[in-house]
Amino acid sequence: MSTVSEAVKANDLSEEVKVSSRKADFEIDPLFLNRWSPRSFTGEEIPDTILHSVFEAARWAPSGSNLQPWRFLYSKRGSSSWGKFLGLLNPNNQRWAEKASVLILFVSKKTTTRNGEVVPSKSHSFDTGAAWQNLSLQAILKGWHTHGIGGFDREKARVELKVPDDFQVEAVVAIGKQGEKSALAPELQEKETPNNRLPLKDLIFEGGF
Ligand SMILES: Cc1cc2nc3c(=O)[nH]c(=O)nc-3n(C[C@H](O)[C@H](O)[C@H](O)COP(=O)(O)O)c2cc1C
Repeated sequence: MSTVSEAVKANDLSEEVKVSSRKADFEIDPLFLNRWSPRSFTGEEIPDTILHSVFEAARWAPSGSNLQPWRFLYSKRGSSSWGKFLGLLNPNNQRWAEKASVLILFVSKKTTTRNGEVVPSKSHSFDTGAAWQNLSLQAILKGWHTHGIGGFDREKARVELKVPDDFQVEAVVAIGKQGEKSALAPELQEKETPNNRLPLKDLIFEGGF
């Protein structure tokens, strides 16, 4: 099995990730361990080639009946809409996310049309979760990191970003280049390390729950 540090060399990730203590119990591609959610970002501008690449990966996620219910509303740091996007986040998230390069609001379409009738879509959130994971893994492959954010004002997001009623506001995702841990406030530095997971035996149930 490849170690994280071998994978890190292959993916040319930053020094921070090389101290990762993550270890898979069964063989998986190192990409899955290398994706984690730092809070220290450099604030540098994200090239459109990277942005398009991560959105393109998200676009190729699977979805029920190929409905592709995801929509991505985004703002680049320094653009005219940046303050509006950053202002949606809870203060504790704003503290670190203000150095992200882009903030993306994921929304999903709750309905579809069947035989001319508008009916609920059963998997719009599940599908949009797949899109976010595709985006996140593609970011890692390109040397960027993502951080999901659920701590934000959903109603404010709906109003200020003009999200239509038949779309569900899902989550915000920050993308950035990983910065130095020392650039964070001391209490955030404590958390700035890849975390672990529940053991597989607690998660899988052959034949039923
Ligand atoms: C939907 C979602 C919402 C999250 N909300 C927040 C948040 O509000 N603030 C935060 O600092 N991290 C947030 N996170 C990050 C999670 O805490 C993190 O993904 C989890 O601890 C697993 O760590 P890892 O991503 O480094 O593997 C969120 C992640 C997801 C997927």
